[in-house]
Amino acid sequence: MGLSSGLSLFLTVTSTLSCSTMTRHHTVRINHRQEGKEYTLEVPNNNYILHSVEEQGNQLPCLCRNGAYTTCAVRILSGEVYQPEAVGLSPELKDKGYALLCVSYARSSLEIETQNEDEVYEIQFGQHFRRVKKKFKIFMDDD
Ligand code: FES
Repeated sequence: MGLSSGLSLFLTVTSTLSCSTMTRHHTVRINHRQEGKEYTLEVPNNNYILHSVEEQGNQLPCLCRNGAYTTCAVRILSGEVYQPEAVGLSPELKDKGYALLCVSYARSSLEIETQNEDEVYEIQFGQHFRRVKKKFKIFMDDD
């Protein structure tokens, strides 16, 4: 490795480290529909939104805390999140603006509203359960 390529590598690594350690904050407005409350918080881009909300003394719906279900699902009214670990949401629901706050990072200022867990669950899985119930002639109390 020559001096110039070593210097280039050093600059590249230094730049990456600087960028990865920079924390930006975004304003997040949350309409907690079930509680009738609204929060406006500053949230760092390197912490899950749910964790930041809780660290600031607020509570939102959650259960598994690892992106596996839909308890913490919200609808993004404006802004952008990064949620690569949100395995509990289908790509279609993510495209429709839903996010799981327990595994979402803010990538801009956000306006979000909590969802009824059953609503997101129904959108994502309802058609499949209805098909299975019909196929096997399963009847429930709510049918
Ligand atoms: S708390 Fe379960 S998916 Fe977020």
